Amino acid sequence: MAHPTESLDDTIARLREDYRALLHRLESNQGEFQRLGRAAFRAQEEERRRISRELHDGLGQNLTALKHRLSLLAARDPLEAGWSEGLEEAIALCDSSLAETRELSRLLRPQILDDLGLEAALGWLGRSLGPASGLEVEVRVSPLPTLDGDLQTHAFRLVQEALANIARHASARKAWVSVRESAGCLRIEVGDDGRGFDVDSASERASRGESSGLGGMRDRLALYGGRMLVESGAGGTRIEAVVPLNGRAGTLAP
Ligand SMILES: Nc1ncnc2c1ncn2[C@@H]1O[C@H](COP(=O)(O)OP(=O)(O)OP(=O)(O)O)[C@@H](O)[C@H]1O
Ligand SMILES: [Mg+2]
Repeated sequence: MAHPTESLDDTIARLREDYRALLHRLESNQGEFQRLGRAAFRAQEEERRRISRELHDGLGQNLTALKHRLSLLAARDPLEAGWSEGLEEAIALCDSSLAETRELSRLLRPQILDDLGLEAALGWLGRSLGPASGLEVEVRVSPLPTLDGDLQTHAFRLVQEALANIARHASARKAWVSVRESAGCLRIEVGDDGRGFDVDSASERASRGESSGLGGMRDRLALYGGRMLVESGAGGTRIEAVVPLNGRAGTLAP
């Protein structure tokens, strides 16, 4: 509100001061929002890590023990008539359940990401997705500075969703992933030679809550002050995500 005795210069100085205070509050609210969002994702990853371990060490070990016992029974001599076939089937069921349990455990939280880092984990992702989906996946990771654990997880989840989309929707033959550092930013590109899609109408569907993949990628990026570009057409799709590496969760200019 204008003060009746105030000069124009005073008014401008006061407004400038108000503006600065407002900007400061806005920035600190944004920082708080980013911190909270990152903490929520960290908690989610921790939960996934726990379930992944539980699956691997609990259910996985039980299935292994069950298979062992069945194998002992199958090796008994003489075996009652009709048992042999039933036991073989039970052992085969154990094998496929074990394989599914291991795969689920790895997808939930790949141990390799914690043990060997982003490059190894992305290599594993490309190798494991390729044969199952008939896709040829090329992964290139240029030498990177040491990344904080949350950012590695974030980059991994982003590539995981982008590749899952390619496998599910693109009808592509080839996909590629490139991760590099340039101009103080982490640059992640994921592309395919598939049929492409209408990005605007997919965004509209996402805002109606009909899908969460691309929206989730953007939300995660925003928490790190990053941004994402999606280009898609008849020749395929290319996603480029850029995240500043200076440790400050600021906002990149568009
Ligand atoms: N690489 C791609 N090639 C072709 N279409 C794609 C590609 N990536 C995304 N799309 C299209 O964009 C839509 C939105 O993708 P998004 O990941 O948000 O949702 P979704 O994969 O359908 O579901 P989910 O929430 O399980 O991820 C998809 O339904 C698909 O039509
Ligand atoms: Mg998706």
